[in-house]
Amino acid sequence: MTFDRNVKIAPSILAADFANFGAECAAVEAQGADWIHVDVMDGHFVPNITFGPDTCKAIRPHIKGVMDVHLMIAPVDPYIEAFAASGADVITAHVEAGAHTHRTLQAIRGAGVKAGIALNPGTPVESVDYLLDMVDLVCVMTVNPGFGGQKFIHSQVEKVRKLRAMIGDRPIHIEIDGGVTPETAPLVVEAGADVLVAGSAVFKGGSVANPAPYGENIRAIRSSFA
Ligand code: DX5
Ligand code: ZN
Repeated sequence: MTFDRNVKIAPSILAADFANFGAECAAVEAQGADWIHVDVMDGHFVPNITFGPDTCKAIRPHIKGVMDVHLMIAPVDPYIEAFAASGADVITAHVEAGAHTHRTLQAIRGAGVKAGIALNPGTPVESVDYLLDMVDLVCVMTVNPGFGGQKFIHSQVEKVRKLRAMIGDRPIHIEIDGGVTPETAPLVVEAGADVLVAGSAVFKGGSVANPAPYGENIRAIRSSFA
């Protein structure tokens, strides 16, 4: 995985057909997705449950590019090894998930995986101040995590701008997760984001049998800021 700041679209399979993840990943990549975003929820850190490392491992062979695993779980540390072994390229943990985020990030990098840290909308950007030298990605949640299809929280645009200034020249991606649409994408790109997660805005109207809408949706997001 090489670093650049070109804007990447990362469809979230939270909005895909759960009975057909492999084909959904292949379809959305064929339609122009840059990364595949995989949302892991535990029903404890967030009020919803999705799936675990075995599912990530099962879908890995169906993804040609980057598998971006977003862990909305607490605790995180006991599961890092399993998610690393599943073939994740990036593992992102939440700064709110426990008292020892620094250790968590060490463990992710120690497992040979790019490390990400996510911030809930209510969490100040300063919470990552002392973590920036050990992360490859910071995810700014623009909805409260747990569900797809929620409304973009506009106060987070300012957070992205502050974060971009804090990062400076460091090779750290700024990822946006939640409520990304052709209307909201230009706001966060202008503020400095370079990875846009989008669930409902990419998968709406399409299916594995009819994947063309996925491509149209991805192009609509891309052309909103290009
Ligand atoms: C929310 C998840 C997101 C979600 C985004 O908890 O982390 O990745 O799938 O979905 P949309 O794009 O529909 O807001
Ligand atoms: Zn996510």
